[in-house]
Amino acid sequence: MLRYIITTRLAKIRWSIGWSLYHELDLPMDKVGSIIKSTDADPWHYGSIQDRRRRGEVISTMDWIVKHVPKDELIFEVGCGCGANLIWLAQHGYRHLTGTDRSSSAISAATQLAELARQSITFRVADGFIPSGNNISVLMALNSIYYAPIDMSKYLTSCRDRLASNGHVIFDMIDRAFDQMPKNRYLTDDWRLPENQRRPTQYVVRISPKELSEQATKAGFKTMINNLSGAKRPPRYLAVLRMD
Ligand SMILES: C[S@@+](CC[C@H](N)C(=O)[O-])C[C@H]1O[C@@H](n2cnc3c(N)ncnc32)[C@H](O)[C@@H]1O
Repeated sequence: MLRYIITTRLAKIRWSIGWSLYHELDLPMDKVGSIIKSTDADPWHYGSIQDRRRRGEVISTMDWIVKHVPKDELIFEVGCGCGANLIWLAQHGYRHLTGTDRSSSAISAATQLAELARQSITFRVADGFIPSGNNISVLMALNSIYYAPIDMSKYLTSCRDRLASNGHVIFDMIDRAFDQMPKNRYLTDDWRLPENQRRPTQYVVRISPKELSEQATKAGFKTMINNLSGAKRPPRYLAVLRMD
């Protein structure tokens, strides 16, 4: 806890003098806060930008993209929230970036944050996790698709049809091992409450790496990488599916 307080204070000092670390956004956090507040976007997005370096699934995905994806290819994020991942990629040289989210306030914040960063990124309001358009090199869905009751097999087939021939899908997924945890049926925020006051779980899709790999093969993906590091609580993994 003490370590967290100290690193957060140090981060505030760094941001006040315009010094951001590699995985952070190069943006003044006071202006980020004002935009998120004024658009009425969920305050979660501010915390997620502030704590970006601690989000394992985000860091691994950004590192994987920088290592494997040329700067001029199309990267599409569904459930992009306030667009932090796409803004970070733009600040690292990516030029064809599109993000969608069902929340109009999140998209309004994303648009204003991209303007603040002086980056050109297409943001649109759209419900669902199937991207529009085609020839997508990387389809990203971070911290999002397990919140909606998708049929994974149909979902992967729809994604495949929108990817470039050498395209990839990257998402984090809740492992079915979560089913073994005693309170898995309840919203994690409510776990400390008496049982009759707990709301249902937010993690409505859970799939083991083996099941996902089988479904990906059926949908026409050739390989699946699932050994990248990422957040582990609740039990989850990051999957990269490749078309070729
Ligand atoms: C936890 S946030 C993650 C945002 C971003 N991907 C990130 O990693 O910072 C989840 C996002 O998914 C969006 N979302 C949830 N259900 C959705 C749906 N059915 N269609 C589109 N977006 C959805 C929410 O509005 C929210 O912005």
